Amino acid sequence: MKRVYIMAAIAIFIASLFASLLTLSQVHSVKTELTSRLQVRSETLAESLTESIMSSYNSGWTDGVQKIINKFTRSESLVGLSVFDNTGAMVAGSKDMPLPEDRNLINTVMLTHQGIGEFVDRGNHTYYVLIRPLYVDDVIVGSLAVAQNATYIDRNIREIWQRDLVRLLFQILIFALTILVLVRWIFFHSISTMVESLQALRRGNSQIDTIPHSSFFKPLAGEISKVTKSLRQARQSASDEARMRLEMIDSPWTAERLREFIKAYLKDRPIFVLSNREPYVHSKTKNKIEWSVPAGGVVTALEPVMEACGGTWIAHGSGNADEETADKNGRIMVPPDEPKYTLKRISLTEKEIEGYYAGFSNEALWPLCHMAHTRPLFRSDDWVEYRKVNAKFAKTLLAEIRNVKRPIVLVQDFHLALVPEMVKKSRPDALVAIFWHIPWPSPAQFSISPWRKELLGGMLKADLVGFHTQQYCNNFIETVGNEIESRLDYEQFSIFRGSHKTVIRPFPISISFPGSAEGHAEPSKKTLDELGIHVEHLVLGVDRLDYTKGILERFKGLEFFLDSNPEYQGKLTLLQIASPSREMVEKYREFAVLVTEEAERINKKFGVNGWRPIVLEKRNYSHEQLIHLYQFANVCLITSLHDGMNLVAKEYVAARNDESGVLILSEFTGASRDLNGALLINPYSAEETSAAILTALMMPKTEQQRRMKIMRTSVSDYNIYRWSAEHIKALLQLE
Ligand code: G6P
Repeated sequence: MKRVYIMAAIAIFIASLFASLLTLSQVHSVKTELTSRLQVRSETLAESLTESIMSSYNSGWTDGVQKIINKFTRSESLVGLSVFDNTGAMVAGSKDMPLPEDRNLINTVMLTHQGIGEFVDRGNHTYYVLIRPLYVDDVIVGSLAVAQNATYIDRNIREIWQRDLVRLLFQILIFALTILVLVRWIFFHSISTMVESLQALRRGNSQIDTIPHSSFFKPLAGEISKVTKSLRQARQSASDEARMRLEMIDSPWTAERLREFIKAYLKDRPIFVLSNREPYVHSKTKNKIEWSVPAGGVVTALEPVMEACGGTWIAHGSGNADEETADKNGRIMVPPDEPKYTLKRISLTEKEIEGYYAGFSNEALWPLCHMAHTRPLFRSDDWVEYRKVNAKFAKTLLAEIRNVKRPIVLVQDFHLALVPEMVKKSRPDALVAIFWHIPWPSPAQFSISPWRKELLGGMLKADLVGFHTQQYCNNFIETVGNEIESRLDYEQFSIFRGSHKTVIRPFPISISFPGSAEGHAEPSKKTLDELGIHVEHLVLGVDRLDYTKGILERFKGLEFFLDSNPEYQGKLTLLQIASPSREMVEKYREFAVLVTEEAERINKKFGVNGWRPIVLEKRNYSHEQLIHLYQFANVCLITSLHDGMNLVAKEYVAARNDESGVLILSEFTGASRDLNGALLINPYSAEETSAAILTALMMPKTEQQRRMKIMRTSVSDYNIYRWSAEHIKALLQLE
């Protein structure tokens, strides 16, 4: 739209310039004509006066001339007359005669024998003064000046400008309106109608083959209609194939297959997902609103599922432009560039965020569940806020499902442990699952939480509780056994409290591979060039700036490696992408400082000739940028001290369609159970990390390929679509 305005402004400018030039030329010709008429009139007048004036020459100028002058200057057009003798001195003249400033003109006239006309300005008036020589028998005896009023010439010109300017303004107005109407109705209206129909076709919400269009866009609309027809046919055959594949155990899970699965199993029952973190954040910088996808496992995993199945995702609206981009009920269709499902944003107060998110979720539950040697902080004020916000989420969901029979509710993660109980209380018919995306600790570790019973009670009202690994399921069931009166069924892996049964199952979460995680794009070194990284061996780390990720241990491992293998100095760089995370929590701020200092220390120790062993990028990288980095990284180094799954490991594997590169993976990640081709390490041991780096760098291509193939098969076999289908299938079986 901005461009249209600029173009309209240019068009208006050109039109105004053209109109002004026309007026200018009209003004010029009117002025020339009026001036020449005035000159002729002055000549004639002077001619006729000369005779009378010369008649008094012989009788001595003065008296006679003055009388003549007085007689003639009574007329309106003749403003004044003056007569000069041959020395240039005035003989007689009318009162207030406007004479040119330059008195030499009088002598010039007499010297050159040429009459001169001059415009003279006095106050608001302009006069035309003609000076002519006076002769007696061909001898110059003086000169005559005749002044006439010329103000009317300027007045005429002014009137022309005024008249034309008004006309010009009027024309501009008509012109601008015409452009606006044309652009809006012929272009925008037609294009947006075409875009809407295309979007409907793309989303599969339309059966119409012909795109509505104005006659202006007929050829374009015709072509698009043909393309959409082929698209629908292709989609239909994909969907038929997916339906056929539904029953075939071995065929791969795709977005299409998941969609068919959902259609077949859920019929029209909508899905509701609840998580703290939203999949799209809208932020305002200056006057521009931009959206971004936050870093983190839940969003990476759930977003493709929602894209495939539609439904509603309820989450905290944490962006500073979230409210203004959503409707008045906090709803917005996402992804923003290709809407497929509803995101319902919940707004939280500063106090709620502080207590529920920063406090109880990230300072109590996060360190409680991760064995990373950071003490959990339990504050009762935080617990109050946690309960309050969980109730807020539950209330929002209950309003959303008011008219939905037997809704499917998928609660995500440790931020919302109490939601299942709160929902079931009002809607026992809802089928509720909670998936815990982080590790579940040992019963002894969990027992230090003052609110352990309440947390377990909240979760156990769900029909299904999911974890990434069997180990976490075991820990959970044991924890419940220790803390809560219940009946445990180890055969079915279920927990009974009264008549309510909760099934506990492992669902190792994954990514959309094959799909968006693949390295489809041509590998590009742009980011590496921008970072000035031109080394033989690239080791890559991608994490949130979180103390559980073992970034400091990773740096220690690299230091050990460079000390013990000095031949690699100058030839290897660890590029550490560290997305800022949970900066409102003190431990995270402290950790960011430690990571920076440690990188600086190591760079100082080894850095030489512009080479740095560690390039630390403390900012967010887009998914596309990361894929390019994965494609060039000889080694992906994951050293989490404890990690529910770690999807970066799977993203790296998915991006390596050249089947090379080596994954070094901490044995304390959930992913280490799924990725058999990785080099497993204990991240606490710098020696082990260093040895794994050396093994990776020396690994023959064929061995890299063998390992990578195993891992790629495992990720594509158990991708996020399968995770989702199995999760939902397990939930439906509980009805
Ligand atoms: C982990 C959690 C997610 C969380 C993510 C990012 O993966 O399991 O629930 O969204 O970290 O953390 P943040 O606090 O930024 O949402």
